[in-house]
Parts: sequence; structure tokens; C-alpha cells
Amino acid sequence: KKKNIQTSREEIDYGSVNLRKVAVIGCGFVGSASAFALMQSGMFSEMVLIDADHDKAEGEALDISHGTPFARPMKIYAGGYDDIVDASIIVITAGANQKPGETRLDLVKKNIGIFKTIIPEIKKRDCKGILLIVANPVDILTYTAVKLSGFPENRVIGSGTVLDTARLKEALGSHLQVDSRSVHAFIIGEHGDSEIAAWSSANVSGIDLNDFCEMRGHYNHHEAMEKIANDVKNSAYEIIAKKHATYYGIAMSVKRICEAIVRDEKSIMPISSMMHGEYGIEDVALSMPAIVGKNGAQGKVPISLNYDEITKLQESAKALKKVIEDNKP
Ligand code: LAC
Repeated sequence: KKKNIQTSREEIDYGSVNLRKVAVIGCGFVGSASAFALMQSGMFSEMVLIDADHDKAEGEALDISHGTPFARPMKIYAGGYDDIVDASIIVITAGANQKPGETRLDLVKKNIGIFKTIIPEIKKRDCKGILLIVANPVDILTYTAVKLSGFPENRVIGSGTVLDTARLKEALGSHLQVDSRSVHAFIIGEHGDSEIAAWSSANVSGIDLNDFCEMRGHYNHHEAMEKIANDVKNSAYEIIAKKHATYYGIAMSVKRICEAIVRDEKSIMPISSMMHGEYGIEDVALSMPAIVGKNGAQGKVPISLNYDEITKLQESAKALKKVIEDNKP
């Protein structure tokens, strides 16, 4: 028997936050590409950009605002923490990014340090919006943001494996010559080296993935799936080796998550959020499909996983918990 989806706790007071206002903290490649995607989406009427280098934030705000006549009117400006109090979503991309050869977890010390300055600024002002954590390692930083902010957990979410899942759909779509939006498959767990492709529940518009593969003349399921999952897992490494950063894919993921929140879509997405005993996993943030709407993470969706996938998910949680342990003050 399937368990009920546990729906979340705290409702956001849209009397005190402005649904049409977004803040982006960190204006590096990921922050500015996200801001650019958000501007084009027409979802918001106000966007404030914050960066330790205020000139950089100002430059990006100006440059991006010059696109509004081709999109929709919107106020875009560089600001400070006092400007984010009424933002409905606070996107945090600030932090060092991976250099060629580095893993996401290599960034942990530096970026926890940065979060120790950012999150208290947000907490101090009692911001009521949703924190969308994007900086890496995203699961560790989502956990850090939950602990440092003390905000209700539905209001602190990480972009998690939304991007990896998009990469998986794109790869499967082109492998099977079908619209990637008709592919239903999730990457879950860590956004990083221990992530898991949840093959056992993968399907193309309700047709079992292996069956669909055969309809397209592909029969070596095991090898093909292994290659696709590996390519997805390693795509950030490949991109970073070639262009020294990744930002367009993550920017679209940020836009998509914001859209689900602002439009209260209740979309199911593999965002990173706190685990509380699901599959025996506790006190760590990682990605599982969850309902995303105007109150943030509104309940995890217990997709079917086989024994092997559950074991790998537990190993992924263990790897993340070790990082948390090793970085306790
Ligand atoms: C990536 C980085 C953002 O996966 O983690 O592209």
C-alpha cells in the first residue's frame, strides 16, 4: 500500500512577500545567467541582484535590463540585503565554482564559509520568501542554509538534481528520437558523484523505458543506460574541462523551479530538501522528487525504487553526511 504524500507545514504569507519579486545573490556566471533567464521569462516585475562586488552586480543589472524591451517590463537593479526582505524567492548562487579537475565537494569549506555570512544577513531581516540554493555542493549548502536560517524546511530548497534530470531527459530524448519532455525519468540523491539514475521507474509517456528502446531498435539496455547515466553524471566535468564553467543548463533549471513556485504549479521535481526517515535516511538534504508550488517543497513523492536504487540512495546520503560531519565547526 502506498503511503500518503506528506504535505508541508508552513504556508507562506503572501501579504508580506511580493510574489513578483525575486532576488539573486551572487552574480558570477550562474547568477547572471539565471538572472538573464528570469528576465526573459516575464515572471517577475522586480529583480534585485546582489554581489560582494557591487559593480559587478550593477553591470549585470544594467546589461540584463537592456533586454526588457524585448521581453517584459521589469525593474532590475543592484542592491543590498535590505532590498530582499519582500522577495518571494531568494536565489543563492554565491560561492566559488569548480575548476577543471575539482569535484563539487571540493568547494565545501569555502562555500560553507560564504553561507555563514549570507544566511545570517537573511535571517536577521526575517525574510519570509523561499531560499533557492544553487551554489555547490548544493546538497551540503541546502542543509547548511536550513540549519543557519532556522526557516521552515519547505522554504529552503536546493536546485539539486533538477539539472541532472534535464540532462538525462535530453540524452534519452535524443537516443530515442522523442521529445525529451515526454521522457519521465529522475536522477536522485546527491547532485554530484554519488547520484543515482532511477531507471526502474523510467518511462516514455507511460511506456516502460526498455520497451520504448526496443520500439526504436535499441536492445543493449544495460550498456546503453550505463553509458547515458555516466555521461549525465560527468557532463559538468566535461563542460568545465571545455569552457571552464557551466551556467546555461543550471540557469534554465532555476527558471523552471521559480516558475513552479510563482505559478503554484505543484510540479514534481527532484529538488534537494531535508530527509526525515524516507528510505531510512535522516538529517541530510538530497534530491528526491517533490511537489513544488507556492509554499516551496510541498511534500516528497515516493517513486518506486528497486533494492539496488535504494541501496545506492542510502550510500549517497552516507557520503553527504560524512561531508557534513567533517565540516562541523
Ligand atoms: C553543473 C554544476 C552547476 O552540474 O553543478 O553544471
